[in-house]
Amino acid sequence: MRYLLTGGAGYIGSHTCVCLLEAGHEIIVIDNLSNSSPVSMERVEKITGKKITFYMGDCCDEEFLDEVFANEQIDAVVHFAGLKSVGESVSIPMRYYRNNLDSTIALCNAMSRHNVKKLVFSSSATVYGANDCVPLREDLPLGVCTNPYGWTKWMNEQILRDLVKADPQWSVVLLRYFNPAGAHESGMIGEDPAGIPNNLMPFICQTAAGIRKELQVFGNDYNTPDGTCIRDYIHVMDLAAGHLKALEYSLAHTGIDTFNLGTGEGYSVYQMIEAFERANHLTLPHRDAPRRAGDSPISYADPSKAHKLLGWKAVHTLDDMCRDAWNWQSQNPTGYPKED
Ligand code: NAD
Ligand code: UFG
Repeated sequence: MRYLLTGGAGYIGSHTCVCLLEAGHEIIVIDNLSNSSPVSMERVEKITGKKITFYMGDCCDEEFLDEVFANEQIDAVVHFAGLKSVGESVSIPMRYYRNNLDSTIALCNAMSRHNVKKLVFSSSATVYGANDCVPLREDLPLGVCTNPYGWTKWMNEQILRDLVKADPQWSVVLLRYFNPAGAHESGMIGEDPAGIPNNLMPFICQTAAGIRKELQVFGNDYNTPDGTCIRDYIHVMDLAAGHLKALEYSLAHTGIDTFNLGTGEGYSVYQMIEAFERANHLTLPHRDAPRRAGDSPISYADPSKAHKLLGWKAVHTLDDMCRDAWNWQSQNPTGYPKED
């Protein structure tokens, strides 16, 4: 098959490229490189020994999208492209609404015009809001989001539901990711955050590398067994494999369906620190700090629907995530180089 990946040069997209190329598919990537490096694409080609067709451009630009669809025969699309920093979305909400909503609308318009109606969308567990009915199931009512980034995912889901209602030829798969972590086992591609990382695993890695002095544990007084927040960390290669299954599902079905991509296991911040230290034989400087605004105490998936309908299950362990994240960090202390 020939799959188009918007945002395919980013963290999850680049790992998904590897997975799809290794499964024998052809890949076309559109990315404006606003939060990624073209080196990730070169590295994917090195890992797989296969070529990617890359278009540098913006998914909000319908004329540009029309050109891509006119040039390429495409069977289905994964829409990763989006801005994802929670904190930044609070300070510059209009940039988030403009980019994350316009890109989806422009993409779907172009897809309709070119009669490509199979779409896998990157949503997030953030749409469950502060719902603490764990494990979180896809049929729970959507929550109240705590930031504009979360609302863009919530609104994108609604836009896509309305699209499918109006045109039943569409097939849309909404994937709600839990907490992606780790890297490809080669250490050649991985998460390359700009500036100070917001997320736990990249912060842990940069602390272990000595780039950050210490990890702050945000809140130790939550109503959880050790007082720190619990999340469902999932290896990025498992997440990538979920996209392969979701694409196959989109080709075989019409309508809209939603799947959690998580392991079903929750780990606390303290447990993550312990696991990272154990897997990599090092000590991580850390200290307890006040709670971070907007954090829900506990979030983990019920992944059984993806298991049953997609035939997908996470197979990597927490130690794999810790080892692979550190392998990437150690080999690329400052992320991707400017030139490769
Ligand atoms: P990322 O920032 O590494 O990748 C997103 C890519 O999209 C980047 O390469 C960026 O340059 C590109 N992009 C952004 N806006 C674009 C536009 N208008 N046109 C073209 N390219 C554009 O992020 P990621 O972690 O790989 O996340 C991929 C998707 O998954 C995002 O939609 C994100 O919101 C979602 N998601 C991520 C997480 C997570 O924790 N990483 C969790 C849940 C959902
Ligand atoms: N944490 C720390 N110290 C840090 C960073 C994080 O203690 O330096 C804690 C947080 O308080 C939280 C846990 O580690 O308890 C996980 O935090 P992350 O920021 O890594 O993950 P979140 O679950 O808060 O958010 C992530 C993504 C969101 C997405 C959400 C649900 O960042 O984009 O998962 O999918 F919406």
